[in-house]
Amino acid sequence: MKKLYVKTYGCQMNVYDSARMTDLLTPLGYAPADGPEDADMVILNTCHIREKAAEKVYSDLGRLKKLKDGRVEQGGSMLIAVAGCVAQAEGEEIIARQPAVDMVVGPQSYHRLPEMIARIHHGAGHALETEFPADEKFDMLPEERAVSGPAAFLTVQEGCDKFCTFCVVPYTRGLEYSRPVTQIAAEARQLAAKGAREITLLGQNVNAYSGVGPDGERWRLAQLIEHLAGIDGVKRLRYTTSHPRDMSDDLIAAHGRIPELMPYLHLPVQSGSDRILKAMNRQHRAEDYLRLITVIRAARPDIALSSDFIVGFPGETDKDFAATMALVRAVGYAQAFSFKYSARPGTPAASAGRQVPEDEKDARLQELQALLRTQQDQFARSCEGRTMTVLFEKPGRKPGQAVGRSPYLQAVHADGAAHLIGRLADVRIEQALPNSLRGVLVSGAVHSGEGALAG
Ligand code: SAH
Ligand code: SF4
Ligand code: F3S
Repeated sequence: MKKLYVKTYGCQMNVYDSARMTDLLTPLGYAPADGPEDADMVILNTCHIREKAAEKVYSDLGRLKKLKDGRVEQGGSMLIAVAGCVAQAEGEEIIARQPAVDMVVGPQSYHRLPEMIARIHHGAGHALETEFPADEKFDMLPEERAVSGPAAFLTVQEGCDKFCTFCVVPYTRGLEYSRPVTQIAAEARQLAAKGAREITLLGQNVNAYSGVGPDGERWRLAQLIEHLAGIDGVKRLRYTTSHPRDMSDDLIAAHGRIPELMPYLHLPVQSGSDRILKAMNRQHRAEDYLRLITVIRAARPDIALSSDFIVGFPGETDKDFAATMALVRAVGYAQAFSFKYSARPGTPAASAGRQVPEDEKDARLQELQALLRTQQDQFARSCEGRTMTVLFEKPGRKPGQAVGRSPYLQAVHADGAAHLIGRLADVRIEQALPNSLRGVLVSGAVHSGEGALAG
């Protein structure tokens, strides 16, 4: 038996891709390794979104090279593959910088890994695949998916046509592509049959979903969600990440109508300043976003909102930043992610405007994160005393304890819930802790008609 170790950086899409690469290599006799030390093949599934993420790959590769050298000295071998968005963006440069790398494979061509491995075994030296056949990839991936627990990711859309001026994704993932409905539904049915109770639909721009339906028409995300909600065993659906421009009325209405669709929405805004939004090519103003939030809350009053922010975009002034703070105050987020602007090679913003000094970026990030932290704590405290349904996913730190997710995506742990892993149960929230909620099981509140996790 050969052993495979996959390290995943970046977004949920990469988590999905790592699982699919594993599925792809299982028939070749690769079983999961605990770490790179006991692996015959290591895949780094990389992220190019910010400089730090991309640079980390090279330090990890340096460590892998030493492992590989040691293995070769003892007469053994180790294959190293770089996959993901750094692979797509840097291609052959990676091998030039780190010759220990055997394979470089982009996010749209990893279905070719088995033939790449075969080429290497036949003495072909290095193998490089960085083409963009997204449709081909999904047709070529094995139908079989390994059990991934009660909460699973399912990619329904890839790529992005938005070209925000700071972002590498349109270059690393290619243009928008939506998978056909029947292909997605088949994958969802398989996940549900294997014990998945919650499915998160993934796409770089998931609410732009427009896949061919069984009737030959283009289906929108709301239709797809409704269809998947009808699958036996699918109790919860989520989707991420959305662009404000594609937040259509039918999708908003779906939040009020489809009980399986969870009341949580990650809707990145990036900035609260119209001037900066324009320079970012976000294609909406702060006011449009705020109006959208009002409409969404009217459809689903308890919805928890999340967002991404960038501080220190080129040309951002104190006044622009103050507009971002004002927007955050106006919305009130349950959760949020914020980043310092990182200039990415080849993107328009990298060479435009006044780059904001690092210490200014730091100060703004701290101020923004303090506000977001306060809002997150407030939201968590507002949950105290409420009873909510939790999908238990894994054992907690203490014996008998289990950890799961609330409808609002918060981590919830409860004592005496270990036997409920893979199932939904009602929990009364007792206490909001810094990054989780402590709850107690409400007696007799296990949701009926659900098998425990298969396998
Ligand atoms: N498709 C999603 C998110 C893509 S990347 C969307 O449209 O929102 C995830 C987040 O990383 C982005 O929302 C943005 O906040 C951040 N990001 C992207 N490029 C960045 C850059 N060059 N510097 C800093 N943060 C960046
Ligand atoms: Fe990047 Fe903008 Fe596309 Fe999101 S919408 S992936 S931020 S280009
Ligand atoms: Fe990173 Fe690529 Fe995802 S750049 S955020 S891994 S789409």
